[in-house]
Amino acid sequence: MSETGRPSGNPVDPETQSHSQSRTGNTVPEPRVASMFDSIAPVYDRMNTIMTAGLDGRWRRAAVRAARLSAGGSALDVACGTGKLTAALAHAVGPTGRVVGVDLSPAMIEEARRAFNIGQVEFVVGNALALPFEANGFDAATIAFGLRNLSSFEDGFREMARVVRPGGRVVCLELTTPRPKIAGRLYSAVFGRMAPFVGTAFGRREAYAYLPHSLNGFPDAEELAETMRRVGLANVTVRRLALGAVALHAGEVR
Ligand SMILES: C[S@@+](CC[C@H](N)C(=O)[O-])C[C@H]1O[C@@H](n2cnc3c(N)ncnc32)[C@H](O)[C@@H]1O
Repeated sequence: MSETGRPSGNPVDPETQSHSQSRTGNTVPEPRVASMFDSIAPVYDRMNTIMTAGLDGRWRRAAVRAARLSAGGSALDVACGTGKLTAALAHAVGPTGRVVGVDLSPAMIEEARRAFNIGQVEFVVGNALALPFEANGFDAATIAFGLRNLSSFEDGFREMARVVRPGGRVVCLELTTPRPKIAGRLYSAVFGRMAPFVGTAFGRREAYAYLPHSLNGFPDAEELAETMRRVGLANVTVRRLALGAVALHAGEVR
């Protein structure tokens, strides 16, 4: 899928990529992002399991722990997709808690509703950059593998921080380019070829060609931590998972 518009949206070789070349957001227009995820919604979970070798469940559990929820608490799962993290958050808050999953793609939300009919969970269609919720309403907001799809990463974090109460948590699980550089090069070569290959096997080649592309020029883990600090989040931490291919960021709302 070709990207047009801002020059900084051009694919960048992770080997040569410097901080100044990182993108501040996804340059693919939102309606196109939504229709692409609509098209892969029925096969998303199966493809995810293949592409992550089944490790995604472990990463999501780490994200839930980073949200530091307790029984009766509340959480918003932004870009919830088919709802796996949303359901894990619901488990953490228990039947007296409240968890909402929000996603731009109606088909993803349909899949989530079908898969998880849990009393304390609600799934709604909505945009991460204009969350349909009041300020300070949740104990935590999470986003898993969704941030790199947003047209502004900073605005995404700002919206998450807005809907979380002071002292609450903002958590982001996202692919990242591993360091050292040689590992990064190997990783992007494997991911860049594997995603479209798996996509072809499921009849969704174009959509899955977008995935490695969306990672090109994406800020590295330290830059992303800095973005979180810029929106006012405190005590920002970064934890690398999956040999550094996945980063778990967490910060506290002041
Ligand atoms: C790679 S999937 C991740 C889904 C899920 N969080 C997971 O961990 O499997 C990315 C999701 O982000 C959603 N998305 C993309 N742009 C969005 C936006 N502006 N607002 C809300 N959701 C968005 C897509 O529809 C898609 O469901």
